[in-house]
Amino acid sequence: MAEFLNGWKRTGMCAELSLQDVGKEVLLMGWVQRVRNMGGIIFVWLRDRSGIVQVVFNSDTLNEETYALAESLRGEYVLAVRGAVAKRDDAAVNEHMPTGHIEVLASELRVLNAAETPPIYIEDDAKDNEAVRLKYRYLDLRKPNLQQTLMLRSKVVNAIRNYMDSQGFIETETPILTKSTPEGARDFVVPSRIHPGECYALPQSPQIYKQLLMVAGMDRYYQVARCFRDEDNRADRQPEFSQLDLEMSFVEPEDVQHIVEGAFNSVFKAAKGMELNLPLPRMTWKNAMENYGSDKPDTRFEMKIKTVTDLVQHSGFSVFEKAAEDGQIVCAITAKGAADHLSRKDMDALSEFVKTYHVKGLAWYAQNQDGTVRSSFAKFFTEEAMDALRKEMGCVVGDAMFLIADKRLVALTAMGQLRLKLGHQLNLINKEAFNLLWITEFPLLEWNEENQRYVAAHHPFTMPMNEDFEMMDTAPEKVRAKSYDLVINGIEMGSGSIRIHASDLQERMFSLLGFTHEEAWKRFGFLLEAFKYGTPPHGGFAFGIDRLMMILTGRENLRDVIAFPKAQNASCLMMDTPAAIQEDQLKTLKLHFDIEE
Ligand code: AMO
Ligand code: AMP
Repeated sequence: MAEFLNGWKRTGMCAELSLQDVGKEVLLMGWVQRVRNMGGIIFVWLRDRSGIVQVVFNSDTLNEETYALAESLRGEYVLAVRGAVAKRDDAAVNEHMPTGHIEVLASELRVLNAAETPPIYIEDDAKDNEAVRLKYRYLDLRKPNLQQTLMLRSKVVNAIRNYMDSQGFIETETPILTKSTPEGARDFVVPSRIHPGECYALPQSPQIYKQLLMVAGMDRYYQVARCFRDEDNRADRQPEFSQLDLEMSFVEPEDVQHIVEGAFNSVFKAAKGMELNLPLPRMTWKNAMENYGSDKPDTRFEMKIKTVTDLVQHSGFSVFEKAAEDGQIVCAITAKGAADHLSRKDMDALSEFVKTYHVKGLAWYAQNQDGTVRSSFAKFFTEEAMDALRKEMGCVVGDAMFLIADKRLVALTAMGQLRLKLGHQLNLINKEAFNLLWITEFPLLEWNEENQRYVAAHHPFTMPMNEDFEMMDTAPEKVRAKSYDLVINGIEMGSGSIRIHASDLQERMFSLLGFTHEEAWKRFGFLLEAFKYGTPPHGGFAFGIDRLMMILTGRENLRDVIAFPKAQNASCLMMDTPAAIQEDQLKTLKLHFDIEE
C-alpha cells in the first residue's frame, strides 16, 4: 500500500497553520492520530513534529475513490493530504488545540504508508508499561511530550555552543577508545583485535585529554562529550550520558564559575525565557553539610538543621548525654505547623526511614494545636532542658521537632534526608522555582573503609587549597580542595576544580591515594611527564546535559530526556543489547568467556 511522493512537496508543518492561513492551499504530510467517521464526513487528526491539525474529508466534495481511501485510514498511517485551510464554525472551535480554530478541507489524499496497530498508545498521558515503551522507543518518541523535549534539548545545546563560542572556547573532540579515567565508576572496556589480550577503556569523562589540551596551549576548550560509566543505573544516572565539558588556562575558581554561570544563563534564557540572578549564591561544603545535611542542598525550602549537642548534653536523656560524651553530635530540625499532620504511625515510619541512613533512631516531639504534646523523648528531659531546646529550635504550638544523635556526618546526612522527605511530604517545595547555587571547598579526600585508604573526593587531579597544603601530610582528611559543584534544586548538576599543574604535587597526590611511585607512572606516566614540559595553571568544569534537561522539563527520570536511553538494568530493550557476539568475532579477538552460573 506504500506510495512514493512522486513530486508532491510539503508546504509546511501541520501545527504551524493558523487563522492567518485561511483560504490557502496546503500540502501536509504526517501520521494519523485519530479518525472519526461521521458517515459522509470523516475527521482525521494529522500529526507531525509540530503538532496536530484536523483534516476533513467530505463525501459531497470528494470523488468516490478519494473518499473510499479516507474511509480506509487507521491510526499511524502516513499520509500526504492536499487541501484548503478553512475557519471552523464557532461551535466547532476546539480551544484545547493550538490549531483548534481552523481545519483543512481535503481535496486529494495519498497513503504513503499503512501501519499496523501500534503496541502502545501514541498519547502523552498513555499508561503503557515502561518496558513496552522502551522496546518500541521509536513509537514512544512520536508522543508530543518526548518530541518537544528532544527539540528543546537541541535548542539548549545550541545556546550553550553559541555562548562557549562567543567566549573564545574551541570545541575539540577527544577519543572514545582510550585508557581508564578515574572518575570513581567502573570502566566499560573494548577488547582490541590488533593487540590480543589488551583493551581500550571508554572514557568516564574527557578529563585527562582536556588537561593535556591545556598543556598543548589550547587555552579554552569545550566539548559536548559522551561519557561512559559502568555503575548501577538510577533515576539520575545512565551508563552513557552527555556532559558539557570545559577547561581553561590561567584561571582561579571564580573565573571558571563566571563562565559556567554565563552558560547557564544562556540556557535559561533559551529554554525558559528567564535571566538568572548572577552571580549565583555560594556555600561552603561545611555549611551545606551543617545546615542541610547534604552536599547538594535543596534550598527551595528552609527547615535548616541545627546542632544542639551542647544544649542537650545534660538534658537527662541518656542517649544524647552519651552521644555528647563520645564526641558525637545531636542535630535537630523543626517542621513548622507539622504537628497535626503527623500521626504516631507517621512518626514510626520516619524513624524507620532515618535508620536506612545508618543512625540508631529518631527522637521526635510534636505539640498539637490543641496543646497536647506527643514525644518519644520528652519524658526523659528535664523541664529546663526542654524549654531551652524548644527556644533554640523555635518550636511552638503546632510544630514538630526531630533530633538525631550520631557521628557528625552520619547524623547530619540522615537528618538531611529526613529534611528532604518532610519537605516533600508536607508540600513545602515550590515546584516552579529554580534554585542554583555553588558548593565550594569540598574535602580533597574521603576515607574508604572497605579498602582502608583515601580516595579522591572529586578526582586525583584536583588542587588542594593553598592554606591547607601543610596538612597534606599531617591531617589529610582536613585538607580542602579548590573544587566546586553546581547544584540546582537539590540535584548535582556539575562539578569542577582547579587542577594540579605540577608534576611533583601530582605525584604526592597519587601517593596519598595509595599508589606506589611505579603504579602512578604506569597508569598516569604520560600525564606526569607532560606536566614537566611547561604546564599552565588550569581548571575546568563539566555538567550533565541530561540532568539539566531533566530539571528544565521537570522530569524525574533521565530516560525521559534521552532519545534512546538504557533501562534500569543497563540494557537497551529495543535493540536487545548487550548481546552475545558471534563465535568468529570471539576467535578474532582471542576472547573466551568463563561464566560461572
Ligand atoms: P563528574 O564526575 O562530577 O565530573 O561529572 C560531571 C557531571 O556529569 C553528570 N553525570 C551523569 N549524568 C548522567 N548519568 C551519569 N551516570 C552521570 N555521571 C555524571 C552529572 C555530574 O555533575 N571530569 C569531571 C569534571 C571536571 O572536573 O571538570 C567530571 O566528570 O551532572
Ligand atoms: P529508647 O529509650 O531506646 O526507647 O529511646 C527513646 C527514643 O530515643 C526513641 O524514640 C528512639 O528512637 C530515640 N533514639 C534512640 N537512639 C537515638 C539516636 N541515636 N538519635 C536520636 N534518637 C534516638
